[in-house]
Amino acid sequence: MKVKPYEKLSLVYNGLMKNVDYKNWSNYILGIAEEYIEDRARVLELAAGNFKMAELITRKYKNYVGTDISFSMLSSSNHNNLKKICCDMSELPLKEKYDFVFSAFDSINYILKQKSLLKLFKEVYLILADDGIFTFDVSLENNSIKFSIGNTTEDYYNGFYFTRTNKYNKRNKIHYNSFIISHDSGSKVKEVHKQKIYDIRTYFKLAEEAGLITEACYECFTFNDVKPESERAQFVMKKAS
Ligand SMILES: C[S@@+](CC[C@H](N)C(=O)[O-])C[C@H]1O[C@@H](n2cnc3c(N)ncnc32)[C@H](O)[C@@H]1O
Repeated sequence: MKVKPYEKLSLVYNGLMKNVDYKNWSNYILGIAEEYIEDRARVLELAAGNFKMAELITRKYKNYVGTDISFSMLSSSNHNNLKKICCDMSELPLKEKYDFVFSAFDSINYILKQKSLLKLFKEVYLILADDGIFTFDVSLENNSIKFSIGNTTEDYYNGFYFTRTNKYNKRNKIHYNSFIISHDSGSKVKEVHKQKIYDIRTYFKLAEEAGLITEACYECFTFNDVKPESERAQFVMKKAS
């Protein structure tokens, strides 16, 4: 049976991410935040998943709202003290302004169409405070090319076996992650995740069209400018004055 992305992957997400250093990653985001915002800043996370990053970011920034399109991801987090909203990041049902908007871990690559990416930037423009900051990372083609042949990994977590097959289609610039998740009880589901690998110039262009300017574009996890060999980029944007 095929189910939508993260419907069942949410059950094994912590196992899938077991080697990801969220502490280090959140310190990097906090490093960016500290340059621009105060401790009482209003913080909004897009595509917060099961709040792994939120748990660390909210140690410092208490005024936090986390959003994600997947109800399964949001509800699999036990951070019930934090405000959660289930929504598409390119259609934000929000009226309040935020000083710091961020998204982590390739989540923006789930936006498959330029039209939707432009809509996302326009939505962020509307809810960003005048001197607010929007930061997010994206996966670049150099990262996907490593997986262009397709490789499969297997793991076990919490009573579930799961396999992940990675494949990059250079023609349509879609990176596919196919997961097969089976439970000891005999159930078996498949999820196919698609991520668009945009040319880096697309982000600059669409952001500008939405009224945002790119303050910095770093090689992810550093404060150095992104390079042609970079596998990930970290954007820092604000409203054009
Ligand atoms: C790789 S996970 C990252 C989750 C979290 N940021 C983390 O670091 O663990 C990608 C997340 O993006 C969410 N997502 C995908 N498309 C989305 C959309 N259009 N709007 C909001 N969230 C979306 C998924 O539901 C998933 O939780």
